[in-house]
Amino acid sequence: MWQQTQCFLLIVSVIITGSLSASWNMVVSPEVTVSRGEDAVLSCSFTHPQQQSYSGTIAVKWEGSPSNSILFFSCSVRNESMEVLSCSVLGLKYFLVGNPRQGNLSLLIREVQLSDDGEYTCKVQLDGWRDYREKKIQLHVTAEPQILSLSVVETPRDPNNTTRRLQCEVEGNPLPKLIWLSASRKPIVNQVQLSQTSLYRLTSSVPYSEEEVLTCWVGSELGEAERTYPPSNTVKTPLIVQGLITVLLLLLISAGVIVYCCRNRRAGANPDPVYENVGTMNDRLQRSSSPAGGDVELQVAHYLRSV
Ligand SMILES: *[C@@H]1O[C@H](CO)[C@@H](O)[C@H](O)[C@H]1NC(C)=O
Ligand SMILES: *[C@@H]1O[C@H](CO)[C@@H](O)[C@H](O)[C@H]1NC(C)=O
Ligand SMILES: *[C@@H]1O[C@H](CO)[C@@H](O)[C@H](O)[C@H]1NC(C)=O
Ligand SMILES: *[C@@H]1O[C@H](CO)[C@@H](O)[C@H](O)[C@H]1NC(C)=O
Repeated sequence: MWQQTQCFLLIVSVIITGSLSASWNMVVSPEVTVSRGEDAVLSCSFTHPQQQSYSGTIAVKWEGSPSNSILFFSCSVRNESMEVLSCSVLGLKYFLVGNPRQGNLSLLIREVQLSDDGEYTCKVQLDGWRDYREKKIQLHVTAEPQILSLSVVETPRDPNNTTRRLQCEVEGNPLPKLIWLSASRKPIVNQVQLSQTSLYRLTSSVPYSEEEVLTCWVGSELGEAERTYPPSNTVKTPLIVQGLITVLLLLLISAGVIVYCCRNRRAGANPDPVYENVGTMNDRLQRSSSPAGGDVELQVAHYLRSV
């Protein structure tokens, strides 16, 4: 009899728990794809059985990249109150754009980078439920192929005989294809070394001898990029420098002319201070036929009176 009761209670509790969890609902966009540099919205919303009357605390948590499974965003608010959300956030990158009171937990990530690529988890907990409701979202950050560096590296086999290689480091998601081209744009296949240095980076090198012109080319479905060594703009730089010097010289000369003119004009229009005029008085008297002559005579009279 006692066992029967226990069994009955167990069945009832299973039914109740089952029906409760059945009426919980969480909806996310499971896959979000965004280009590097753009903002991403990870949308996540939920409904629960006591939706109409729930006045308790709504605790929102976002976990995941960049720190893999580490809580980087959490907020909580009491539904019945007018209080604003109190949040603890890692950095200025993340914003809750949904309203948790309306069951919307959507997260905005500002200017996503390749390091933001990965899996995120949206979680919510209400008073009276021990466990979280949660769902996962995969954020894909795509990046056009990009050449990070192209330079000659020397690898010393022995101090008297170093080998020089041209090394190209590239980045992209999806990972791009890398090809070396000769000056005549023929693909180079001999002695090419290639390694993947991170999820989104490749490093490749080829033997390099002086005077050689080589191009590192990368491409993926998102685009392509290339860079040539030695850089072809070595000729342009002196031209730019020359241009700058010319402009600077012109500026200096015109500044000189303006300063000279202003000084002359001020000296003519402004009779003060008196002692300054003493030294130039004779000089000015000799030029009394000039248009400023009248002024000079006045100045002299003024000076004589003040002595
Ligand atoms: C918060 O309360 C309002 C009504 O006061 C209700 O409509 C809403 O569903 C509640 N929010 C949650 C997440 O339960
Ligand atoms: C949640 O909020 C975001 C941002 O305001 C909005 O774009 C989205 O449509 C909302 N989702 C739902 C299910 O209301
Ligand atoms: C490098 O060259 C110097 C002389 O030019 C010689 O003494 C030395 O032994 C050489 N080192 C090696 C590792 O060959
Ligand atoms: C330097 O090493 C390379 C390969 O190890 C060899 O082919 C070359 O002859 C060496 N050069 C000199 C000057 O010893």
